[in-house]
Amino acid sequence: MRMLALGFMAASVALAGPTFTKDVAPILYKNCVGCHRPGDIAPMSLLDYKSARPWAKAIREAVAARKMPPWFADPGFGAFSNDPRLQARDIETIKAWVDGGSPEGNPRYLPPKPVFTEGWKLGKPDIVIDIGQDFVVPPGNDVYQYFTVPTNFTEGKWIRAAQILPGNRRVVHHVHVSLVLNRNGTEGDAGGFRQQSGRFWDWKDGLSRLRMDAPVLNDACAGELPGVPDLSGFEEGSFTAMLPGKPPDNFGDSTPKWIPAGAKLRFQIHYAKVDQPQTDRTSVGFYLASGPPARPMRRLDLRNRYFLIPAGAANHEVKRCYEFEADKLLVSITPHMHYRGKDARYELVRPDGRRETLLLVPHYSFSWQLLYRFQQPVYVEKGSRMIVTFHYDNSANNASNPDSSQVVRWGDRSEDEMMTSWMEYLDATPSSQSWSKTAEARR
Ligand code: HEC
Repeated sequence: MRMLALGFMAASVALAGPTFTKDVAPILYKNCVGCHRPGDIAPMSLLDYKSARPWAKAIREAVAARKMPPWFADPGFGAFSNDPRLQARDIETIKAWVDGGSPEGNPRYLPPKPVFTEGWKLGKPDIVIDIGQDFVVPPGNDVYQYFTVPTNFTEGKWIRAAQILPGNRRVVHHVHVSLVLNRNGTEGDAGGFRQQSGRFWDWKDGLSRLRMDAPVLNDACAGELPGVPDLSGFEEGSFTAMLPGKPPDNFGDSTPKWIPAGAKLRFQIHYAKVDQPQTDRTSVGFYLASGPPARPMRRLDLRNRYFLIPAGAANHEVKRCYEFEADKLLVSITPHMHYRGKDARYELVRPDGRRETLLLVPHYSFSWQLLYRFQQPVYVEKGSRMIVTFHYDNSANNASNPDSSQVVRWGDRSEDEMMTSWMEYLDATPSSQSWSKTAEARR
């Protein structure tokens, strides 16, 4: 009886301002609990009043400063379909709720809790392929481990979505799955550069690192390095990736990706440092498209591997350019750096000289490797030039910098750096045969 009476009082007091059950929970359910629920990546659950209430002030701060939900694109450039930012009126509601003492309100108003499919976020996949073994991650350093496994596909398949499911969340930091299409088992992406410029690279525990004495090119837009490949044009990227904060890849039923018959999958798994051995069996789930598309989804990766960041440099610039050799529709961009990553800008210079910024990430964070998907694919004419400009903060003022006294070059370890961009695109003028020809040629 007493409980009921208290509940009733709370409800009548709350008439004055927003309450958790009626006004705030719907906002949290829609925008926050995908991560803020037991067992997912955020530190606390926002599913019920009891667990959310102690965080009320922090929630007010996080939404007022737009730190949550995480999103790093400058709103001045581009419109993105996966932009999770809250509506201004939702922010006002949360502020008013906290300023009014964060009341619970009548439990009757609490909307039904959202239902999550644990693990597979898009429902049960049509096909699941794992790394083929229970891999024991040794304690000590970061590990990059490669697993090549057969698909056993006897015919090619169109894939509308893919999700990588870590076998052991405590140790799997990120994963790329690539297609291996040729008979001798070398992978499609990044394999070429290793063969051609191997002399500049050191290998240890599956981790590659550019040698300190390798040639230096910070501005790959100004020219190339003789004998060094992949500083112009583009490389074809991995098939699907799992990165911190990134949802599953949803290519779309009308723009799926193609896996040819007989392809193998190569998992590249970055295992984080652990104190105790950990066992992992990561898998990838594929969702089949309903039929062949007019335009298959493709990947275009741009890297500059030959930068050198001096010790202590607070704003070191690295550039990479790309001339479009055909008309393309740009679908998404994912910038990638490590701890010293500071900002990223993507500009396009059209053949008529018009210059526009497609995406600006003014404050990059290694913890959030987000994909930015354009609201409408960006039509880019042949002859346009993409200019990618990254800055790195290797000073002691960068709180996430592991060591500002180091000269930093490209390397797989998180303490080294990268300068890479993963982009999805469609052929702007597809011929019905173009995809199958490419798939055959690359086998
Ligand atoms: C994509 C996943 C994701 C979404 C969506 C998300 N969060 Fe978070 N949130 C995190 C993670 C991970 C952390 C801890 C690491 C960090 O602070 O970056 C965090 C931290 C926080 C913190 C800071 C806790 C502290 O230590 O002060 C608050 C408050 C918060 N989130 C509130 C929200 C609210 C409110 C929403 C929705 C409007 C939201 N978050 C949406 C993942 C998410």
